[in-house]
Amino acid sequence: MPFNLEDLRKARRELAQFGANTLSSNHDRYIFPFFKGSYFAYRKVDVLRTVAVAKAISSNPKYLDVGCGYGDFLKQVRKFIPNAEGIEKEAGIFYGLGIIKPDYISIADAHWIDKKYDLIFVGWMEPGQDFRDPIARSTNVIITTLDQGISLESEFDGHGFQRVAWWRTPSWEDVNTEIMNRYYTKMPDSRRTDLAKMRGAHNLWYVYAKPQKVRSVKAALKMQVEKESPIDHRYDFEFILDECGYGYLQKLENPAMLEPMWQVQWN
Ligand SMILES: C[S@@+](CC[C@H](N)C(=O)[O-])C[C@H]1O[C@@H](n2cnc3c(N)ncnc32)[C@H](O)[C@@H]1O
Repeated sequence: MPFNLEDLRKARRELAQFGANTLSSNHDRYIFPFFKGSYFAYRKVDVLRTVAVAKAISSNPKYLDVGCGYGDFLKQVRKFIPNAEGIEKEAGIFYGLGIIKPDYISIADAHWIDKKYDLIFVGWMEPGQDFRDPIARSTNVIITTLDQGISLESEFDGHGFQRVAWWRTPSWEDVNTEIMNRYYTKMPDSRRTDLAKMRGAHNLWYVYAKPQKVRSVKAALKMQVEKESPIDHRYDFEFILDECGYGYLQKLENPAMLEPMWQVQWN
């Protein structure tokens, strides 16, 4: 970004227009991720993993989502950690569009974080942002998601942290492309199948901890993954991911994506 208010207003008009013609009420979160979803396409298991890591540090963890936008992911986390908070730099995304800002989101710049947290979550920060020092000073545990290879804000190895685990999920763009090809573009099925073979899943989740927290974070995440059931624990919108070929533990045909999506890789 940074955001231009006129662009946001235009996007909102386009969202209204899309809403009038959409084939599924769950498509908009992948077509307009900033307003209706998030830049990483998550499942409930991602929320449960994040919550399990936070609860490894404290039964009532202090949780901060940095650059939370309208707080789509944060809202899900708050169902398990009711005091979870977010910060968002751009006041205009609320006040400029007449959208009510929830109390649990503060308008603040991550460079000036002045409290300690048990877990800081940074979901898909745009390229060029670098507030790793203030984040590293303010917590012992970090979960970041990044679009492969373009976000500085997700590499904490040089900041006194160890990477404990990672997994791969689609970005909103991966799903957007598939939805567009499948439902909103006229093309022969054979062509769509060929295109699907090139499909990637470019969003990576990294879990970092300071050395003294590595064992407890790893143990909590392992326990969570062992009891994970994507059938019992899922959001309504997850069927879109299944339909688009982004299934839980599904392996993509693309040879650059070796590990199944959502499979936790341990460091
Ligand atoms: C790409 S959006 C991601 C929003 C949300 N996390 C998601 O995944 O949908 C990045 C957000 O971070 C905010 N942001 C950028 N720099 C920031 C900073 N220094 N402090 C707080 N928020 C920031 C932007 O205004 C924007 O809302």
